[in-house]
Amino acid sequence: MPTSTTPITPQALLAAQNWRYATKAFDPAAKLSAEQWQALAESLRLSPSSFGLQLWRFVNVTDTALRAELRKNSWGQSQVTDASHLVVFTAKENVTQADIQKLIDATAKTRGLPVEKLDEYKKMMVDMLISSGRPAADTFAWTSRQVYIALGNLMTSAAVIGVDSCPIEGLDAAAYDRLLGLEGSGYRTLAACALGVRSASDKYAGAPKVRYPMAEVVVNK
Ligand SMILES: Cc1cc2nc3c(=O)[nH]c(=O)nc-3n(C[C@H](O)[C@H](O)[C@H](O)COP(=O)(O)O)c2cc1C
Repeated sequence: MPTSTTPITPQALLAAQNWRYATKAFDPAAKLSAEQWQALAESLRLSPSSFGLQLWRFVNVTDTALRAELRKNSWGQSQVTDASHLVVFTAKENVTQADIQKLIDATAKTRGLPVEKLDEYKKMMVDMLISSGRPAADTFAWTSRQVYIALGNLMTSAAVIGVDSCPIEGLDAAAYDRLLGLEGSGYRTLAACALGVRSASDKYAGAPKVRYPMAEVVVNK
């Protein structure tokens, strides 16, 4: 665990935010280094989740033929095949006792605590997520929102280390589930994110950002 961090400057953060754009054309020949990809995979793993439950799977699709099939189910978007990496974001459809127990066990082990110390925490999760009998659709909406936080975290992380990205919601989620073998797994596709290096010919790279005025978007009360 790091004992200290070296924050980047606000200017450096804004430079990265302005450099990032939803990349439409990737250079198919340009690949991320192993170190870049490992850092981005860790950023996904380190994303915050409600209670820390991590009810997600991030699928790193490396198979070229599979990427071609996925592209057919993504409005033909070239990013799906041309980017160095394609991550598919999936959320768990339901929460089970086993999901909760897994977190309790991992917390006890990681932090060197007796499991009994976590009884209250466990009960709170069980009460709220299972005994409350909330509809499955609400649970999936809840897990999905957390997965989108991970998507945002990935894109910002990528921009900070100079990696281009494109979030992709323009896809047939059911077809993705089928092609990725997710059916019956308890996880469902929400979106994808292409990662790599922008093509020199992507005219969107230089397009000014369309954003509403600060006073309208961030409201002080
Ligand atoms: C959830 C989500 C889904 C998106 N889906 C797509 C997509 O399928 N294809 C695409 O080219 N861009 C997609 N975008 C990119 C947006 O169009 C883009 O972020 C927005 O127009 C702002 O532009 P900028 O990101 O370049 O600043 C998506 C963005 C988000 C947040």
